[in-house]
Amino acid sequence: METFQGTKDHWDASLYDVKHSFVSKYGNRLVELLAPRAGERILDLGCGTGDLAHTLYECGVEVVGIDNSENMVKQAISKYRHIPFMVQDATNLAYHDEFDAVFSNATLHWVQPPIEAVKGIYQSLKQGGRLVAEFGGKGNVQTITDEIIQQIKSSGFEFKAGQFPWFYPSIAEYSKLMEEVGFRVTFAQHYDRPTQLDGENGLRNWINMFGGMLFDGIPEHTKDQIIENVEINLTEILYQEGIWIADYKRIRVVGIK
Ligand code: BEZ
Repeated sequence: METFQGTKDHWDASLYDVKHSFVSKYGNRLVELLAPRAGERILDLGCGTGDLAHTLYECGVEVVGIDNSENMVKQAISKYRHIPFMVQDATNLAYHDEFDAVFSNATLHWVQPPIEAVKGIYQSLKQGGRLVAEFGGKGNVQTITDEIIQQIKSSGFEFKAGQFPWFYPSIAEYSKLMEEVGFRVTFAQHYDRPTQLDGENGLRNWINMFGGMLFDGIPEHTKDQIIENVEINLTEILYQEGIWIADYKRIRVVGIK
């Protein structure tokens, strides 16, 4: 799952489990692409609150879960005591030739600089091991983020490029990084995944859960007003029959060491 690199822990693990459980639900499709085999040793990079690590465990995998958020890791440990979970930074992995696979769902768009993560993942894998990952790709949730940035500027605040917390590459960009460190990229896909947000406050909850860094330095009452304006302006585009639909665009990659 997703982590803010190098900042305080913004994650509310309980809220994540209650309101954003779709992240792990979509991740089950990535488990199919991983096709885990019993006895394999697999690193779940960005394990969040542990649900997908648990799915791998149930497949007979010896799974290790890591996440940059202490809140998430604590919650994962409390749910699944039989699985080792640890707080670790994806740009500073210290594993060497020990995993059959690195699995990563909805995380790598948070990780910067991306090349450091790709190097560490490669180093963690045994020869012949695989990286199977899905995360936000070029244009991900752009309707939402463009509108937020527009509203921030209209409210008289500066928005600096460095405040944008995500890295949304194309498959060409990400494949290039993978190839640079030695991966043979065997699969790369960039696809639309319109994603239902939970309830009539779904967009607001999503922004509060994931978009906190966009509002750095903005007073709480102004932030609330900005989010309200975003809701108003996006209703026609993203609110259909009582449901908010976020314009997720994902990339999926598989690489072999
Ligand atoms: C994503 O999974 O694509 C994502 C989730 C939260 C914020 C940004 C992107």
